[in-house]
Amino acid sequence: MRKSIQKIQNFKKEGKKITVLTAYDFSTAKYLDQAGVDMILVGDSLAQVALGYENTTDVGMDEMLVFTRAVSRAVENALVIADMPFMSFQVDKAQTMRNACEFIKAGANAVKMEGCSDFVIDNIKHLVQNGIPVMGHLGFTPMSINSIGGHKVQGKDADRTIDILKEALRLQSAGCFAVVLELMPLQSSQFITQRLRIPTIGIGGGKFCDGQVLVSDDLLGKYDRFKPKFARQYSSLKDIIFNVAKAFVSDVENGAFPSIKESFVLEDEEIEKLENYR
Ligand code: KIV
Repeated sequence: MRKSIQKIQNFKKEGKKITVLTAYDFSTAKYLDQAGVDMILVGDSLAQVALGYENTTDVGMDEMLVFTRAVSRAVENALVIADMPFMSFQVDKAQTMRNACEFIKAGANAVKMEGCSDFVIDNIKHLVQNGIPVMGHLGFTPMSINSIGGHKVQGKDADRTIDILKEALRLQSAGCFAVVLELMPLQSSQFITQRLRIPTIGIGGGKFCDGQVLVSDDLLGKYDRFKPKFARQYSSLKDIIFNVAKAFVSDVENGAFPSIKESFVLEDEEIEKLENYR
């Protein structure tokens, strides 16, 4: 059975760190789940790492739903969160509700929304009151890259840290069950984490957050267009994929693949019949 939001929130009280990774496809989601990751996020980062777009703003609902369904079919234990993409919650409350419901129907247990304008807060309240759990996202919010002007660390002084705390408290009051803090000094996210009831999940937010999230392609070493300073690379899957494909090309070209063991073979008498065919 998948973890509930209550269980995730209890981890904060118990002091157990919460683990979150992104996944976009069935088999990756299955192995992350089997490894014991607490929450799996179908992040709109898939725009870049799975679909090759420039920004997360380029991905739409239709695409997000395909990946959410694939991940949901695989996950048995983790809580699955679908990222509400750009334009899916900025238009009106009814459209936000419809899109969030599509994600729940696709198998997600919760959705994530960036920002905390009055409009977003209103949307969050509406979803939560109607039984859809919402995770917030503050600090650097990739959808607002055009107004932020690049991948910039947020909360770099006391005043701005206090502003982000106030935003986080608004998300908490609106009913968010957790909040992502992206690209913030560790003391700033610690200050916020200590003042919230709900768990904070850091990405480039330092070790004092209640949990950590990474884009799985960064962790696995599969995406090389951009390497964030905060992402620890545990493997070099891109080299593994490259070397395996090279070996396949070479084996096919020099006749080493497929072998007899990898082929289906006719009975001797059937071979004889074919040989005697005129
Ligand atoms: O889309 C995503 O992967 C995210 C994480 C960076 C938190 O929002």
